[in-house]
Amino acid sequence: MEQKIEQVILRLQKQADYENQHKDKIDHDKRMLAITKETAMFYNILLKAVKAKKILEIGLSTGYSTLWFADAVIYNTKKSERQNAITTIEQSQYKIQIAKKNFEEARVSEIIDIKEGLAKDILSDLSKKFEKRQDLFDFVFIDADKENSISYFETCLTMVKKGGIIAADNILDNDDMKKYAKYAQKKPGVISVTIPIGWGEEITFKTK
Ligand SMILES: C[S@@+](CC[C@H](N)C(=O)[O-])C[C@H]1O[C@@H](n2cnc3c(N)ncnc32)[C@H](O)[C@@H]1O
Repeated sequence: MEQKIEQVILRLQKQADYENQHKDKIDHDKRMLAITKETAMFYNILLKAVKAKKILEIGLSTGYSTLWFADAVIYNTKKSERQNAITTIEQSQYKIQIAKKNFEEARVSEIIDIKEGLAKDILSDLSKKFEKRQDLFDFVFIDADKENSISYFETCLTMVKKGGIIAADNILDNDDMKKYAKYAQKKPGVISVTIPIGWGEEITFKTK
């Protein structure tokens, strides 16, 4: 693992652990709400194994999951291929400012393109640009407002390459995400399975 990234991840890990033990003490809008360490390691290994070079994340928060993705992108790419390899969406200016500092400290700012605003609007803009483009995403991670995840899934399917993956968090602890998993598992043109790691991950493989 990249040393600078690892240092920041370790710090954020401690913060996430504190947060999970003292949920009621921290204002919800200021919480990291990060994936678990095991989930992060699972994605880091998966992304390295499938050699993912282009990633879209919906729900940046302060950048914990994004840093694990960035480490995989560095492993999978030459320096010249890395600029804006990860696109990540976040509506909270407060969290974006913290994420930017974390990315500077981890020396990965150039790899990550932060899109500020509502996921629905940003995805709509992105998908219009993608109509004529060939450089589709290898991997999409859905981890924002859970009630809109099915709609994000539909938009993202058009921006993921054949053989690419759409993943989503909180399948085991959120009712909207349980519906999402059922929806993905019935969708034609994909194979989808729930992995019982962390808060539960839905892994959807695009076959067509
Ligand atoms: C669960 S957290 C993301 C955690 C992050 N992926 C990680 O594991 O470190 C969800 C984030 O999505 C953001 N969010 C929620 N609804 C959104 C929306 N409609 N558009 C953009 N961002 C949104 C929240 O501000 C929050 O920071």
